[in-house]
Order: sequence, then C-alpha cells, then structure tokens
Amino acid sequence: MYPFVHEMLFITIASAGMDPRQSATLGNVLSPAYVPTLFYEANCEHVFGRFANTVTSIAKPFYWRNWEVIPAVQKEINVHFPDLPPLLELERNQSLVLMNSHFSTDLTVPLLPFQVEVGGMHCRPAKPLPEDLRSWIEGAGSAGVIYFSLGSITKGTTLPTKYRNMFIKAFSKLNKRILWKFETDLEGISENIMIKPWLPQQDILGHPNVKVFISHGGRLSMQESLYHGTPMVTLPLFGDQPINGARVIANGWGLSLNYEDLSVELIISSLEEVTNNATYVENVVKTSRLYKDQLTSPVERAVFWTEYVIRHRGALKLRSPAASLSWVQLLLLDVLTLFLLVIILSLIILHWIFKTVVSAVFGIQYLKKKFE
Ligand SMILES: *[C@@H]1O[C@H](CO)[C@@H](O)[C@H](O)[C@H]1NC(C)=O
Ligand SMILES: *[C@@H]1O[C@H](CO)[C@@H](O)[C@H](O)[C@H]1NC(C)=O
Repeated sequence: MYPFVHEMLFITIASAGMDPRQSATLGNVLSPAYVPTLFYEANCEHVFGRFANTVTSIAKPFYWRNWEVIPAVQKEINVHFPDLPPLLELERNQSLVLMNSHFSTDLTVPLLPFQVEVGGMHCRPAKPLPEDLRSWIEGAGSAGVIYFSLGSITKGTTLPTKYRNMFIKAFSKLNKRILWKFETDLEGISENIMIKPWLPQQDILGHPNVKVFISHGGRLSMQESLYHGTPMVTLPLFGDQPINGARVIANGWGLSLNYEDLSVELIISSLEEVTNNATYVENVVKTSRLYKDQLTSPVERAVFWTEYVIRHRGALKLRSPAASLSWVQLLLLDVLTLFLLVIILSLIILHWIFKTVVSAVFGIQYLKKKFE
C-alpha cells in the first residue's frame, strides 16, 4: 500500500527463493508436476506425489487469498483507507523480484526477466580468522574440526537438555575438535569442544580444516556451506528447514537428522559417515564450482536490475502479459470449450450429410426396384 499511496515503484525480495504462489501472481505459473510449494516437498516422481502437490498448489494460495490472510488484512485496510485499490491488485504491480535462489543450488525453473536470482549474494571468500580460532582449528590436525551452529534465531540454549547432553557425550567420543556456537558456558564438557556465543561463520566454513557443518538447515547457512564447500549434517526444526534437509540428502551434500531419532550413536555415526565418505565433499565442491561460475555476481545483478527499474520508471516491458489473464484464459479453458463446440458441430453436420446421402442412394435403388 505504501508505494501506491506515495506513487513509488516497489521491489520485493523472495527470501525463501522460488515461491510458486508469488510467481503465479506475476504471470509465471509453474507446473505442479515438478515444482513443490514453499513448505511441502512432495515426491513428484510418483503419481500420488504429483496429486498431493497439485492439490496443495491450488488449495494453499486459494486458502491464503480467500480465508487465511488477505481477507482479514483487507478488511482492516478498508476501514482506514476505503479508496485504495485491493491489495491483491497492488501485489501484481511489483517492478522486480530479487529471489534468494540460484539454479545451481535450487530447482531449475523458467523465469520471467524480472524474476532475478540473487541467491547467496551474502556469500564471500573467507577472511583470516582471529588468532585463537585459527590456532584451535589448525591444532586439530588431520582429524579436522566440526562446526556446530543452530543459527541466529534458534539459540543453542533453547536446545532441550536431553539433546544437548547427547551432543556433549557424542563429541567427547570423537577424535575431532568441535567449534560450537552456544550462548552460555557449558559445565563438564570435554577438552575437544570450544564454545563461543558468536562466531565468524563464513571464515570458519572457508577454512580447509573444517570438515562438517552441523546446522539447523536454514537457507542462508546452507548457501554458505555450499559456497565454501563444506558438507552438512542438518537438524531441521520448522519453516523451510525440513525441505532444505531433504534437499541436502537428495543432492548428496550431507545428511539430515530428525530430533525424535537422535541418539549418541546416531550423532557419531552420522558425523563419521560425512567426514569419512568422500562423496559428500565431492558433491558439495561440485555444487560450489557450479555456483561460482557466473557471468555477473548476484550483487551486481541486484544493483543492475534495481537501477534499470528506476531508470525506466517501473520497466513495464519486463512484465508478463500472462499476469492480466484470468485463470480460465490462462488454462485455455475458453479455447478448449470452443474446440469442443466445433467438434460437436462438425459431427452433427457429418451425420446429417451421411444420412442425406444414404437415404438418397438407397431411396433411388428402392424406386428402381419397384418400377422394374
Ligand atoms: C502500478 O505501478 C505504476 C507505476 O509503475 C503506477 O502508475 C500505478 O498506479 C500502479 N497501479 C497500482 C494498482 O498499484
Ligand atoms: C558414500 O555415500 C554415498 C552417498 O550416500 C553412498 O552411495 C556410498 O555407498 C557411500 N560409500 C561408502 C563406502 O559407504
């Protein structure tokens, strides 16, 4: 509403990457035959998976537009600003979408010119580490270091004691060093664990002696891990994290564990599997190389297209004419109906011609016979 009232252009940032609902709003309707919705990864190789994905793809946006969010917000807006165009109409007027995704690390999908992929734009080469961290990481020798962080939102301190103790016990049995982002000190931990409330994550991931990243499976952590070529063990909690965990497994970038299944043995075996089996590093490094092989950097693209939209006052040519079609027009339902009518009409005419010809021919023969 704000850009409309102030007659400004507006750009959106799709922080979770491709959101098919938003894409459809812009006229790029992606097929549920292979594009999952934001929070539900169906197995699209199977007919039941595609069925579930299709139902979710239709039901979720329908629910969102007609029940869940929009009507409540719209009602509130109407009370204060009765003259504004409807929200759903304003939404269509985005000049540019910067998407936090990239085809090398995400699903490959067709995009409109103003859906610009800038995924991993925050990733940068590692900088030298502070002295204490550097010597700790290098002092681990060839066994290497495991880096453990549940991100900035999920605090380590909210990890239930049961799970925390499992990690402490598992780590004490490993010959590796562990660097753990945890907000308070921990009593009775083994010597191979270093705890810090905040850590320079990218500089750590970029160090060759860091062998595994145990994360919550957040999108930004995953992008950093891939960029720096570090395999992962993810512990997804909510939002897009379970999907990210599933993708870590599917792409062979590492493993993903459920909290319900956690045990000291599982933690140890998972960490050993990811460090000893070279497949995971190979896959991550391959993805990292693909990701870094770009004509322009994500930041350059974001800057260019932002300025482009400003220079050309919204750059309407970037938009798809499909955005102004109704779903009946987009799915060609009107055309199919016309087809059906033409076919039915043709059949009726053919039937009539056939009947006329037959009765003419047989009618003449009948007359001939009669007068012989
Ligand atoms: C859409 O944006 C254009 C400028 O790009 C503006 O002139 C127009 O009023 C906007 N319409 C709506 C419904 O927001
Ligand atoms: C290494 O991991 C890959 C991918 O999970 C698996 O297919 C392969 O069997 C593993 N190799 C060994 C030696 O365990």
